[in-house]
Amino acid sequence: MLSRRQFLVKTFLAGTSLMVGNMPGGRQGIALRPRLNPGLLEPFVDQLPIPPLAQPAGHRLDPLDLTRAIPFYLFAMREIETKVHRDLKPTRMWGFQGTSPGPTIETRRNKPVIVEWVNQLPTRHFLPVDRHIHGAGADKPEVRAVVHLHGGRVPAKSDGYPDDWYPPGKSASYFYPNTQEAAMLWYHDHAIGITRLNMFAGLFGIFFLRDDFEEGLNLPRGRHEIPLVIYDRDFDTDGQLNYPVAPASASPWISEFVGNAILVNGKLFPYLEVEPRRYRFRILNASNGRTFHLTLANNQSFHLIGSDQGFLSAPIETTSIVIAPAERLDLIVDFADWRGQQIVLRNDAVPVMQFRVLKSGTKDTSKLPLGLRPISKIEESKALKTRVLSLDEIDDQTGNPAVMLLNRTHWSMPITEKPELNTVEIWSLVNMTEDVHPIHLHMVRFQLLDRRLFDMLQFQTSRTVHYTGPAVKPDDSELGWKDTVRALPNMVTRIIVPFEGYPGRYVWHCHVLEHEDNEMMRPYEIVIPTERTKHG
Ligand code: C2O
Ligand code: CU
Repeated sequence: MLSRRQFLVKTFLAGTSLMVGNMPGGRQGIALRPRLNPGLLEPFVDQLPIPPLAQPAGHRLDPLDLTRAIPFYLFAMREIETKVHRDLKPTRMWGFQGTSPGPTIETRRNKPVIVEWVNQLPTRHFLPVDRHIHGAGADKPEVRAVVHLHGGRVPAKSDGYPDDWYPPGKSASYFYPNTQEAAMLWYHDHAIGITRLNMFAGLFGIFFLRDDFEEGLNLPRGRHEIPLVIYDRDFDTDGQLNYPVAPASASPWISEFVGNAILVNGKLFPYLEVEPRRYRFRILNASNGRTFHLTLANNQSFHLIGSDQGFLSAPIETTSIVIAPAERLDLIVDFADWRGQQIVLRNDAVPVMQFRVLKSGTKDTSKLPLGLRPISKIEESKALKTRVLSLDEIDDQTGNPAVMLLNRTHWSMPITEKPELNTVEIWSLVNMTEDVHPIHLHMVRFQLLDRRLFDMLQFQTSRTVHYTGPAVKPDDSELGWKDTVRALPNMVTRIIVPFEGYPGRYVWHCHVLEHEDNEMMRPYEIVIPTERTKHG
């Protein structure tokens, strides 16, 4: 085995001598103001807030069927003040319609909606913008925003392309056809070069897409179906968001944010009163970079029924879950045997929130089905093409990360990935770093094939993959349709992707927002096959 240091190979990139590979830890930054220790706050004093359900502002003609009107929503991004804990002063954040997370949009399959996303943010950012980062140069307005529906099968012009940002005072109307299966999607800012700051400030929310199949399952619903949007932050001792900056550098960008305070739906250590019955929890990790390992402190088991793009084929019983940034999990927890108890949800050993189980409640008529939505595995032989794409960290001379790249290409370079509409491809994500990178492709859903150790030095010199270990099957929770996959360090992660939906220009990227903002994002284009390239 090569040691980490032996692996560091000098390379030349864009005329500069840089180190390829990475040092464990990276550049995490320093706090600008004294940092709050959330462990000193009294836990479980605030009730878990549930983001409000969005109400349409009116109706508009369906652009695909001018004989019908469809719901129209108006969502304004604004600066807000919100209490994250009883004993902290209100915190400045950015939200939608006055809340962060923003209001939940709920719709059904084949019920399209239009959302006008209005930028009413201040013209100055309250977090440290780095003018050296792609798309965030001094010639650009400091505050910009554009909203993407994560996991949505959406035409390119409504997808929230990172360069389609607009400044305060402007808006964009996006059309969401909602032709896909039931899933919990989410919307969030995607402005080039400042997404990490806009999302850290609070610009995200949930989008529930429902369908008849889901309805037929008789799962817990209404007040027994609870979204849990979980994310980490740092606060200062005044209760204000405290995004760290790189030490002694003209460029404040840090390589990864990991905070000491974990919020659920906008509160620190909230509690939720539950009846002794089944609940359905829809979990989203909205962190910039942190992966959560969640368990219940009583070691109670629960059932996983879905992930990013909808239901698994059958429930899986487990006592712990792993969820990386942008991933979603759908679970059923039965509190029937825990009347009168208090159960803490933990991330490793750290409390996140508390469930207070009441002594009695309404009769539970919901079910935990034996089977959910059947998932047919895509055969590898269906793939028209396999792309080998590396995930790279480029370090500066001091061994700190300078940029992150996909396949050693920068954001602004010409498009290299042009899958044909309605074909299947395998993407082999070759992780040359020591980090987990949650890789997300817009517009499509995919299946995880496997992960496998490989010879990194060999790949470094020849760009060919030589496996050094057996193929590792996906975790149980990864057996369904995904839109974000954890590319594990020193491994090749293979996904199989049907490019179904719409032609046009989309993006794929790492969902660690500090990486995404600093070159770990690339455009890709779904093309309509021409006669010449047509096959079969
Ligand atoms: Cu969650 Cu490119 O997005
Ligand atoms: Cu990454």
